[in-house]
Amino acid sequence: MSEIILKAEHLKKYYEERQGLFSRKKRINAALDDVSLEIRKGSIMGLAGESGSGKSTAGKTMLNLIKPSGGRVTFEGRQIFDADKGEYLDSGSMTALRQKMQIIFQDPSSSLNPKKNVEQIISAGIIKHRLCSGSQVRERCIEIMEKCGLDKRQMMRYPHEFSGGQKQRIGIARALAVEPSFIVCDEPTAALDMSIQSQILNLMLDLKEQYGLTYLFISHNLGVVEYFCDELAVMYRGKIVEQGKTADLFSSPVHPYTQLLLSSVPVSHPDEPRRHTESKPQDESIPKHGCRFAPRCPYREKRCTEQEPLLLPCGAGHTAACFHAVK
Ligand SMILES: Nc1ncnc2c1ncn2[C@@H]1O[C@H](COP(=O)(O)OP(=O)(O)OP(=O)(O)O)[C@@H](O)[C@H]1O
Ligand SMILES: [Mg+2]
Repeated sequence: MSEIILKAEHLKKYYEERQGLFSRKKRINAALDDVSLEIRKGSIMGLAGESGSGKSTAGKTMLNLIKPSGGRVTFEGRQIFDADKGEYLDSGSMTALRQKMQIIFQDPSSSLNPKKNVEQIISAGIIKHRLCSGSQVRERCIEIMEKCGLDKRQMMRYPHEFSGGQKQRIGIARALAVEPSFIVCDEPTAALDMSIQSQILNLMLDLKEQYGLTYLFISHNLGVVEYFCDELAVMYRGKIVEQGKTADLFSSPVHPYTQLLLSSVPVSHPDEPRRHTESKPQDESIPKHGCRFAPRCPYREKRCTEQEPLLLPCGAGHTAACFHAVK
């Protein structure tokens, strides 16, 4: 079994928000509520779930880009933070470690500085982390651009002069330029059309093989997740409800929410039956007790509204948090 590159334990991120537009009362939104995840070196771990389930919050908290409310993250055997003990890496060590941990964002347009040309965007990290001597920076930049399918003659151009797919290639080149070992890919192809999506995904797979990268791949497109990820964690309202090998989750999903998500994957022919029945839309509030999926769950039992189910083994390397599914 390969080594663990990133380990997140009991991660929590709570946001305070007003109860109404004119209300002074505040409530806590548990965007991330006790999430633990181990990512194997060289693998692609998928993180799926509907909008607002906490996927981006999980990715950014793991990279220490947003302050955690609780929990611990270890990267390549080194503790980045233990928020419960108030231990954080000092900013110098964190900056140095950032070289190894990168992120590619969903929307390439807003994640690239419009005032910088491509060379400046890609070379900023190389210069910051002093990865080569001054005279070699341009050469390194060209090398990365070519690897990412960009034309070196376009290095003086600005982001607005590129298509969506090209901008995402620039985003990937920027992440790759600093020689990372782990990249959080936050819906990297969601803003692109289908044909460009597959080009970018194939590029990311090629780069992963060439550079021995590890990805945390965030997506609500399950078709893409099935094709791309070795393992999958399904999130529902701040919690992981099922986790396992992607093939196992797709062939035998255990949690009713995973089943629901899979039922929304488009079928290839209109006569082909959907895999599962759909449930009513999401209720706004998270129940105070019990399973947070209970209000939508067709298999709800009495204890589902009283007790919170734990993530328990339901097969080899497969876990689910459901009283009905895991006896
Ligand atoms: N800066 C913030 N301030 C307050 N609440 C936030 C903030 N960022 C996220 N949230 C809340 O945290 C929850 C999880 O958000 P997050 O962006 O992680 O979801 P997501 O699964 O990535 O959704 P999407 O698929 O739409 O990108 C949501 O309820 C969101 O409103
Ligand atoms: Mg998101």
